[in-house]
Amino acid sequence: MSEAEIGVIGLGTMGAMLALNIADNGFLVAVHNRTSERIPEFMDKAGDLAKHITGHAELEDFVQGLASPRNIILMVPAGDAVDAQIAQLRPLLDAEDMIIDAGNANFHDSERRARDAEDSGVPFLGVGVSGGAEGARFGPSIMGGGTSAAWDRVAHILRAISAKYDGQPCATYMGTGGAGHFVKTVHNGIEYADMQLIAEAYGVMRDGMGMDATACGAVFDRWNEGLLQSYLIEISGKVSAATDPETGNPVLDIILDRAGQKGTGRWTAIESQMLGAPVPVIEAAVFARNMSAARDLRLAGADAFGSTGGAMSDGAVSFDDLEQALIAGKVLCYAQGFELLIKASADYGWELPMAEIAEVWREGCIIRSAMLNDMASALTNAPEQNLALAPYFADILKTNIAGLRKVAVVAMGAGQPVPALAAALNYFDTLTSARTTANMLQAQRDYFGAHSFERTDKDGAHHGPWLDQHLNG
Ligand code: 6PG
Repeated sequence: MSEAEIGVIGLGTMGAMLALNIADNGFLVAVHNRTSERIPEFMDKAGDLAKHITGHAELEDFVQGLASPRNIILMVPAGDAVDAQIAQLRPLLDAEDMIIDAGNANFHDSERRARDAEDSGVPFLGVGVSGGAEGARFGPSIMGGGTSAAWDRVAHILRAISAKYDGQPCATYMGTGGAGHFVKTVHNGIEYADMQLIAEAYGVMRDGMGMDATACGAVFDRWNEGLLQSYLIEISGKVSAATDPETGNPVLDIILDRAGQKGTGRWTAIESQMLGAPVPVIEAAVFARNMSAARDLRLAGADAFGSTGGAMSDGAVSFDDLEQALIAGKVLCYAQGFELLIKASADYGWELPMAEIAEVWREGCIIRSAMLNDMASALTNAPEQNLALAPYFADILKTNIAGLRKVAVVAMGAGQPVPALAAALNYFDTLTSARTTANMLQAQRDYFGAHSFERTDKDGAHHGPWLDQHLNG
């Protein structure tokens, strides 16, 4: 076989699927894995596609099996493993050979690796890939970061293997350095929030309305026909309907309520705090995951205070109210996510393509949904505008905010935790407050620290009458 056009290091689930996808699109691909036993297993599973793939147990052979200048995708666990792999590879590479990190890297790491790459002369791309194993195999959403020249070199391959929306590839260059991984991180933050909003709607149905999992599943299926149409609503319907083969009970009922996380949602919350671009629905989702993990504490709390269980009186909320709550919550959560992207783009000098970000999320990724197409249109018209204020979404909010308010209030009245729905509502009510209570904060700050405040009736920095009084006794 002739030399491979691209290489993949790391044959875990995502790497293996990505390599098969590349081969399936007619490219010759070389593969390598740290533990070499996995390579023959992978080649066996590749079946007919093996004719497009060369497996190399030794890293040196892998590098030699690639056409120059080389393009090497790393699909290894994010963090130290990526740095270790880069350190091993670099001495084997020529100037102009390129390393492409396609894992879920922290964008700060990608920024650092991009700087190191400039110093060493080995080009680097940090590429966010979304869509889980199925996406990696049949078409993920791809968010690229690095120099545009580096992106252009492999764009034809990344576009070919990506998901397509109406024939348009979901693979886009986002900007320099860590821009691709930043966009992927925000994607994951939104993913956390979208999942949490859906989980809270499920909680209202299960605990507030006393519905079983199958009945909840039927509601999700119905919602998937409307404005909420999305992959996450679709799979929520599917997992609600599934039966545990061992017990015959709904699978949902035998799953422990303790959620894991690898940290990308948390990174989104951290970055939003650093940039001063609030994402309260995403923060609420991270809070909910952390509290779910603190099961012993929750059990002690339930024991100490007696859990109300969240039961609601009959008819307190309707399915239409709940659907409205999810629609409004979703719009507000995305409005926050895009605000964060806008702020990051300005602060890091990336010029992130807002409309294209919405476009690249329309297919292949975990948060794909019908609404993203309308978000792309809104962002095309006004890339810097908060989505909640875009005419199409402002109308949606006007129609649906009442449902969100009703569900949040009734659920909280019944003692049902709805942190993400409540955060969405609080965001809306703050976003639409012409007058907040921050005048009180300013007065307090000036009182204890002489921080000064602005006045409503004249320009400049001012102090209150209290300074003299309390400092001079
Ligand atoms: C995707 C997913 C994927 C992965 C996350 C989940 O876009 O394909 O987001 O990247 O499922 O890492 O992260 P948690 O384990 O933190 O939920």
